[in-house]
Amino acid sequence: MEERIMHYAIYSLLGVLLLLSCSKSLTLDKVVNPTEDSDTTLVQTAEKAPNQQILKDATLLKTVSDSLPIIESRIKAAAKIEKSFFDSGIDHADVRNTDFFGPHMLTSAKAVDIASVGELFSGVTKYAVEKLNIPRQSIDQQLSKRIGILDERCPFSNVPDCTRSAASRYRTIDGSCNNLNNTLWGRSFTPFERILPAVYDNGVDEARQTSVLGGPLPLARKISSQFHQTSLKDHFEPDLSHMNMEFGQFLSHDIQRNALSTGTFGAALDCCGSSEPESRSKCLAIEIPADDPYYSQFNRTCMNFVRALPTPKLDCTLGQRQQLNQNTHYIDGSQIYGSDEQTSTSLRTLSGGTLKTGGDATAPNLLPKDTNNAANCILPASDANVKCFLAGDVRVNQNSALISIHTIFMREHNKIAAGLEALNNGWSDQIIYDEARKIVGAMLQHITYKEYLPEILGDAIMNKYGLKPLANGYFNGYESKMNPTIKNEFAAAAFRFGHSQVHDSLKYNNKAQYFKDVFLNPAIIYDTAGGVDSITKGLTDSYSQKVDERMSSHLTRHLFERKAGFGGDLAAINIQRGRDHGIPLYQQMKTICNVSSNVHEPSVWNALSSLYRNPSDIDLFSAGVSEKPVPGGIIGPTFACIIAKQFEALKKGDRYYYENSGDQAFTLEQLDEIRQTTLSKVICRNTGISFVPTNAFIKDTNVRNQKMSCKGVSAIDYSKWKCGWSNWGTWTSCVNFIQVRLRTCKQQKPCATDFCTGDVFEIQKCGSVRNVEMPQIEAKIEQLRAILVTQQNNYDIMDVNTAQDILQTFMHQNAV
Ligand code: HEM
Ligand SMILES: *[C@@H]1O[C@H](CO)[C@@H](O)[C@H](O)[C@H]1NC(C)=O
Ligand SMILES: *[C@@H]1O[C@H](CO)[C@@H](O)[C@H](O)[C@H]1NC(C)=O
Ligand SMILES: *[C@@H]1O[C@H](CO)[C@@H](O)[C@H](O)[C@H]1NC(C)=O
Repeated sequence: MEERIMHYAIYSLLGVLLLLSCSKSLTLDKVVNPTEDSDTTLVQTAEKAPNQQILKDATLLKTVSDSLPIIESRIKAAAKIEKSFFDSGIDHADVRNTDFFGPHMLTSAKAVDIASVGELFSGVTKYAVEKLNIPRQSIDQQLSKRIGILDERCPFSNVPDCTRSAASRYRTIDGSCNNLNNTLWGRSFTPFERILPAVYDNGVDEARQTSVLGGPLPLARKISSQFHQTSLKDHFEPDLSHMNMEFGQFLSHDIQRNALSTGTFGAALDCCGSSEPESRSKCLAIEIPADDPYYSQFNRTCMNFVRALPTPKLDCTLGQRQQLNQNTHYIDGSQIYGSDEQTSTSLRTLSGGTLKTGGDATAPNLLPKDTNNAANCILPASDANVKCFLAGDVRVNQNSALISIHTIFMREHNKIAAGLEALNNGWSDQIIYDEARKIVGAMLQHITYKEYLPEILGDAIMNKYGLKPLANGYFNGYESKMNPTIKNEFAAAAFRFGHSQVHDSLKYNNKAQYFKDVFLNPAIIYDTAGGVDSITKGLTDSYSQKVDERMSSHLTRHLFERKAGFGGDLAAINIQRGRDHGIPLYQQMKTICNVSSNVHEPSVWNALSSLYRNPSDIDLFSAGVSEKPVPGGIIGPTFACIIAKQFEALKKGDRYYYENSGDQAFTLEQLDEIRQTTLSKVICRNTGISFVPTNAFIKDTNVRNQKMSCKGVSAIDYSKWKCGWSNWGTWTSCVNFIQVRLRTCKQQKPCATDFCTGDVFEIQKCGSVRNVEMPQIEAKIEQLRAILVTQQNNYDIMDVNTAQDILQTFMHQNAV
């Protein structure tokens, strides 16, 4: 509590300082000046809602200042109730003891601080809506304004100083300073944004639970058990490997980590533990119907579910409840490196640019061990050696396949760091770390856009949104106005399509390990028959399930199960999460995506719509995941639209996108080297696997995808990163017994500029020179040398054609 109060004080102070010092940079037209007495300024957006009562600024201002003490005392009262749940032992002091959320519940203290302001903003908005009778449909229009007296509490007003980062070759760890006009865009601990306004029951912050016809929506668990039934055996995606699923999860953890509610002192909330779970605003327990086809045998009527934490919007205007992304939004490897300085430093050896490793003699070169078992993994009593792992994202231990791919990319980083160190460029630990991180981030982007997304979206959509990487040259499509922020509809619904791809089991060493047994269980990583190699090979050697309404029972009955019958249901959680976030209705998304009417098999549509009172109520996750796939892709047109738009923003709105030119750019020869990357090569370089499918996302049973041997796969060509002289180029042709060759000084960043001594050219005699001509030729060579030195000092000659011209001209004028 004390810590929280202190943060409040700091925010307030920062807010005041900011107001005093840079009030000019604030968008004044959107701020309601707290001292302005005039009531003539109309609410900016009022004309967009002509039938609405027109609010006067002064009225709004007074309402807000009236509300503050009331809301603050309500928040205090709620905290007291929360504490009583903690004191009575309903909540678990140990956050790790929560069923069904596992590592997703490891919310950062920083998120909790921001959320306390978010709660205040929601409270004030709700108060104003009631007091001023603002119609539901126009809440964001009418209230989307900054209010001076709230500004000082804004957790996002501490604008970073980007003067150094602006010209930096490297991303910041937290993603700030990427967009130089909106320096917080994409930073960790910033809100998600929305494609469409939220659909909350009270318009502001209450989860959607009511049908458009009135009465309750169908229960999330009921939709899951009736519609997202267990995957059929062998209901495969014909071409795709299970790696397609796992890389999707790995990528998802790069770009988003929702912040879930925790209780007093960070305790894990148990929303099923109290007699009146409804009374807890942080809870939205999932009700299990009495006749549930599975859980009823265990007499279970309630599944724990906590609401995601609220956050103010990035501009700290009032409005609908929004959720918080704890990771950087960009594709930048933050699941490997962390999204804040403290985490990233804790993962480094601080020597040679490498990341820390763990493991032991039988299972070497693993991720560093989580000796405190912060994620509450299942550890064998018999072997104290077996521990879970640390990485840039706390969800790393969620399942063994995820641990494996994390391990491979950690190794790739260390391999690159060693390769860069061996160049003897004189680089410090920091430069090697930064450069290796930059390369790994670029590889992740290349694999995402070149190999992963085309299988998901199909060729036509890849082209429509400009998502394909170039074959050569720089991409000049950076748009500083393109906001990369992860969209709530993407995080809470569309990109969860991957949950439908999950197979019942992981394959390794010709064994199949049920998925329910690999949650938070590192044992098979250490297993000599299993291990990273075997699990990875299993991922490329087995199929991904088809993307459809069906999900594996390991996710819909046994998620993070510790006791038979008490596992979670991820389909129900996805539906409930959508309602918690006020995710717009399926039909609204379909309209905004211009999707024509029939995109479901009639039987599928009937099965789904018959569960709802009205088709307008249908949840986005359920209807989106069950659409018929787009040509060449595996998801339907509505999810494809949301996902393509998001990846377009992550490409064009990322100043550090790997194909961009500019201060931060790779040289073209480095870029060409990055473009050679495939996931298969990364696997080959960092495991003992002998054969992999050429494209790791596609099963090698497909004719377009033969197996390749890992023998021929070498490390990336580090010489493209070497500082100093290049090798000599070819000699020019011989002109009157003289020829010239050139080399270049590679002093691209981050090379030191004084790395090259000597000349960029070399001159020699050629052809059969008679002795008598020798002195004359040597004199000419000296004359030519003088000319070339002048050229060199003016940085004029750089290529072999110019050298040839100079030689030609010189000889023409000074024929021997
Ligand atoms: C391998 C098995 C997987 C398991 C056990 C799993 C489990 C979970 C869980 C428990 C959550 C939190 C749900 C909530 O409280 O709202 C979640 C969120 C999510 N999952 Fe998965 N997932 C898996 C694979 C995948 C895959 C393959 C993808 C995508 C291709 C994916 C995409 C997402 C997304 C986008 C979120 C929301 C993330 C956020 O905003 O924090 N997941 N998953
Ligand atoms: C920021 O915006 C200004 C004016 O709107 C524009 O001139 C400038 O190029 C932008 N800077 C960046 C880095 O996008
Ligand atoms: C469930 O409740 C019924 C009726 O109260 C009882 O007979 C049964 O033993 C219970 N089952 C379990 C698994 O607790
Ligand atoms: C939908 O169609 C409208 C009108 O043609 C167009 O402006 C909009 O960009 C389209 N949206 C998508 C997602 O294609």
